[in-house]
Amino acid sequence: MKSIKKICCVGAGYVGGPTMAVIAQKNPHIQITVVDINQERINAWNDTDLRKLPVYEPGLDLIVAEARGRNLFFDTNVDKAIDEADLIFISVNTPTKTYGKGKGMAADLKYIELCARQIARVAKTNKIVVEKSTLPVRTAQAIKRILDQTGNGVEFQILSNPEFLAEGTAIADLMNPDRVLIGGAETVEGQEAIEALASIYAAWVPQERILRTNVWSSELSKLTANAFLAQRVSSINAISELCEVSGADVSEVSRAIGTDSRIGSKFLKASVGFGGSCFQKDILNLVYIAKSYGLDAVADYWEQVIIMNDHQKHRFAEKIVTTLFNTVNDKKIAFLGWAFKKDTNDTRESAAIYVANELMEEEAQIHVYDPKVTHLQMLSDLDYLATRTPEKNKKHLTTHTDPYTALEAAHGIAILTEWDEFKEYDWQRIYDNMQKPAFIFDGRDILDHQALENIGFEVYTIGKGN
Ligand code: NAD
Ligand code: UGA
Repeated sequence: MKSIKKICCVGAGYVGGPTMAVIAQKNPHIQITVVDINQERINAWNDTDLRKLPVYEPGLDLIVAEARGRNLFFDTNVDKAIDEADLIFISVNTPTKTYGKGKGMAADLKYIELCARQIARVAKTNKIVVEKSTLPVRTAQAIKRILDQTGNGVEFQILSNPEFLAEGTAIADLMNPDRVLIGGAETVEGQEAIEALASIYAAWVPQERILRTNVWSSELSKLTANAFLAQRVSSINAISELCEVSGADVSEVSRAIGTDSRIGSKFLKASVGFGGSCFQKDILNLVYIAKSYGLDAVADYWEQVIIMNDHQKHRFAEKIVTTLFNTVNDKKIAFLGWAFKKDTNDTRESAAIYVANELMEEEAQIHVYDPKVTHLQMLSDLDYLATRTPEKNKKHLTTHTDPYTALEAAHGIAILTEWDEFKEYDWQRIYDNMQKPAFIFDGRDILDHQALENIGFEVYTIGKGN
């Protein structure tokens, strides 16, 4: 088996950056170059001020500081890095298609195909090509067909090695993964390629946690894992609505069912709805794949997870409007949090965007404080929805760098992200400076509701009867 000396990772995003940083830290003898066509992103990865890294993840800065310039490099010269590498990770984005056939459902594989064509054009020596991006089952076949067209005798082995890290805990997840999954061809060369990649992970992951499968199982397992996780959130969110009308408390129900070892306690936290770049995209992709095989019952089953999630976001926004006497016109609604979860600066598909958009449609003035998200990012998230003009969005969105000014004179406060610091605020001071009656809509169930009610707040919590 040929040992891997040089790695190239195409795509310096939330997966490519942190994953390669950890692989580089654990394999100082391997040179890793992370490349991207986005010059600004590469500049940020190379910034000497580690607070300016393009991805915020607890612990990432220290690992980058250790490995960068030693055996970890960030560059825009994609051709050179491909040419020199023994192994290439493809970590480019695979968003939901916004045009043509499969619009709104299928994964857009444009960036994957461009990558494959670039590798085919540049490669002069045999290479292992690893799908790190989340891809529809059987994508490896398409990649192989493109790569086999080089005509210059280069042999490629295609592996599937999906990433299971969650944002906000990426470094901990990478350091201590539940499993590393590697799918490869069931040929001698395929098995050798699997072992070459496994040896990189073996630098810190116990062998029994490195699972080897065929390529299709590996590709499909990734979509399935996300679908199962999201399904749990939608399931508990469905129950949260029932709790609100029946007097049950969803956190008590979660605890009660989660102690059953067959169910388990994780991913049972009711919320304003799941966000993030992947759950929705991957389920839609699964639904599309099932439909394209004619499996309508399978497709409908998984689509319900998305329908429930949309419903949860909508009913949270609606609750705010009905509670505030059926009108939020020109009222100041303060949002604590915009990121799709705590400890990340990522806002993709965040519930906050949809709730804000719906309230803006009702002419509310939205004032946001998030410790890691910029005003420009929030505006671009709203503009991306394309339901309102950028001018209108600008008029209705104010961003604050101080939470207390965001909350001052507000008619209502909505908690959209579970950032820990929100629990530490001086809620008496906030109450004193708000419009009365003062409402809090805790979409994350993170605050001490009894204490808030003692101050005088009227509190609505997802999943608790009022
Ligand atoms: P991202 O958008 O943060 O990063 C992708 C990067 O690829 C971008 O910087 C883009 O400029 C670059 N890129 C696109 N085409 C390129 C090309 N031809 N050459 C060079 N660079 C190119 O995306 P991400 O969140 O890192 O996700 C990447 C993949 O990993 C997706 O398939 C996603 O589903 C999967 N995934 C993401 C997560 C997550 O937590 N974000 C976790 C597991 C898996
Ligand atoms: C998720 C998976 O957890 C990762 O394993 C996977 O690699 C990744 O998607 C991916 O493929 O991109 P991520 O989206 O980063 O990771 O974060 P999660 O912790 O899964 O949270 C997703 C959303 O669900 C968040 O909005 C979160 O607030 C919400 N959630 C999660 C709940 O509402 N309740 C829960 O109990 C758990």
